[in-house]
Amino acid sequence: MKFYIHTFGCQMNVCDSLWIAAALRQKGYTQVMSEKEADVILINTCSVRQKPEQKVYSMLGRIEPYLKNNPNLIVGVGGCVAQQVKETFWEKFPFVRLIFGTDGVRSVPDSIVRLSENPDLKISLLDFLDYYPEREIIIDRTLTKQQAGAYVNIMQGCDNFCAYCIVPFTRGRQKSRKTENILNECKKFAEAGIKEITLLGQNVNSFGKDKYGDGVSFPQLIRKVSKIEGIRRIRFTTSHPKDISDELIALFGELENLCPAIHLPLQSGSNTILAKMGRKYTIEDYLQIVEKLRKVRDDIVITTDLIVGFPTETEEDFLETLKRVKEIEFDSSFSFKYSDRPGTKATKMEPKIPDEIKSERLKRLQNLQDKLTHKSLNKLKGKVVEVLVEGKSAKQGKDNQISLKGREGGGRVVNFLTKQTNNIHVGSLVKVKITEIKKHSLFGEVIL
Ligand code: 5AD
Ligand code: SF4
Repeated sequence: MKFYIHTFGCQMNVCDSLWIAAALRQKGYTQVMSEKEADVILINTCSVRQKPEQKVYSMLGRIEPYLKNNPNLIVGVGGCVAQQVKETFWEKFPFVRLIFGTDGVRSVPDSIVRLSENPDLKISLLDFLDYYPEREIIIDRTLTKQQAGAYVNIMQGCDNFCAYCIVPFTRGRQKSRKTENILNECKKFAEAGIKEITLLGQNVNSFGKDKYGDGVSFPQLIRKVSKIEGIRRIRFTTSHPKDISDELIALFGELENLCPAIHLPLQSGSNTILAKMGRKYTIEDYLQIVEKLRKVRDDIVITTDLIVGFPTETEEDFLETLKRVKEIEFDSSFSFKYSDRPGTKATKMEPKIPDEIKSERLKRLQNLQDKLTHKSLNKLKGKVVEVLVEGKSAKQGKDNQISLKGREGGGRVVNFLTKQTNNIHVGSLVKVKITEIKKHSLFGEVIL
C-alpha cells in the first residue's frame, strides 16, 4: 500500500504528519510524493484563516475523480478543519473515510489498516481526551538521515481565547506533556544523529502551568534538553508575550545551544486593538521584552505575526502598528489580513474592515517589513556564520560543486556552494562566509 500526506498549516501539523508517516512506514506502507500514485491520501488541514480552509476543499474536489479509477482509495482528513467541521464532513464529502482531530492522530495508523480491511467502514477520531495523548516514539532512520532537526511536541491546545483565534476550538484546552516523555523523545532523536530540536506548543511559555504539569517550567525544560548529548541547537515556538519570563530571557545568554531566535507574535501595535483582541499585554510591555532580549543577546533574531484589519481597526491604529514595527525592527514577520473564524469573539465585533482596506494596509506593512528584513540580513554580509545543513538547494551547482542549504543560528536560510569532495551532508555544521544578500535568504561560501 502506498500513502501520500499533504500538510497545511503550522509546525504542529507538520510534526503530526511526520509521526503518521513514520508509523505507517513501520506498518509496511510506502510513502509516495504524488497523490495520484497513492492508495491512501491523508490531508492534514489548517483553519486559522479562511484561505487555508478553502485550499482543503479545492484539494478534496481534485481528489474525488481519482476514486473512479481506484474505488478502494482511502481518503482521510485531519487537523483543524476536520475538528471544526466535524461529522458534517461526511455530508459534503461522502468519499472521505477517516476524519481525525489532534487527539486522534495516534490512532490514525491502526484506523487506516481497519479501513483497508473493511470497505464499508468510516472512522471519526474527533474526541478531545482529558490528558495529553502520548504516542509511540518512532525513530525512522531512513527519515532521520534526511533531517537535520526534529520537532518535539511539549503540549497541546490553548487556553487563551484571543478574540480572532479558532485554535482553542480546534485544538482544545492546554495539556502539557510529561517532561520525562519529552526528554526521552529528544534523547532518541539525538541518538539517531539529530542535532536540532524544536520544542512545539501553541503557547510554550505556559508549559507545565495546567493541571497536567509535573512541576517543571518551560525554562527548566529547556535547561534539561540543552544537556542532552548531541543536541547542538534548540529552538521553540510559539511564545505568547504575556507569559514570557525573565528566567527564559536569561537563558539566551546562558545556554550555548539555545539558538538566538524568538518568534513572538505582536499581532498589533495599537493598545486599543490589543485590548479588543484580548492579548493581555500592551505595546509598552512588548517593547520592554524586546529590550530585555536584546540586552541579553544583541544579535537575537526577533520575528513576529501581525494581523491587519481586525474589526474596528482605524487608520490611526494601523499607523501605530507601522510605527512600532519600524521601532522594533523585526528581522522578519508574517502578516495576515484579519479573517472571520466561526465561533470566535471577533466575528461579532463591528465594524468589519473592507477587504480593499485590509489589502492596502497589508501591502504597506509588507513593504516596510521588506526594507527591515533587508537591513537585518545585510548585517550578516561578510560575516562567517555556522550553518546546519538541511539538504540540497534548488539552485544547481557548476562543475564538481554542489549547492546546499541550511540555516544559521538565527534561523535564516543560507544557500552555499561546496565541492562534492568536501563531504558535507544533511546534519553537518559548517562555517559559511556570507557573500550575497537575497530577498529572504543569504548566500555564501564554505570556510574549511
Ligand atoms: N485572521 C487573520 N490572522 C489570524 N491569525 C490567527 N487567527 C487569525 C484570523 N482569524 C494569525 C495570527 C497568528 C498566526 C498563526 O495566524 O497572527 O499568530
Ligand atoms: Fe492552523 Fe492553528 Fe490549527 Fe496550526 S493550530 S493547523 S495554525 S489552525
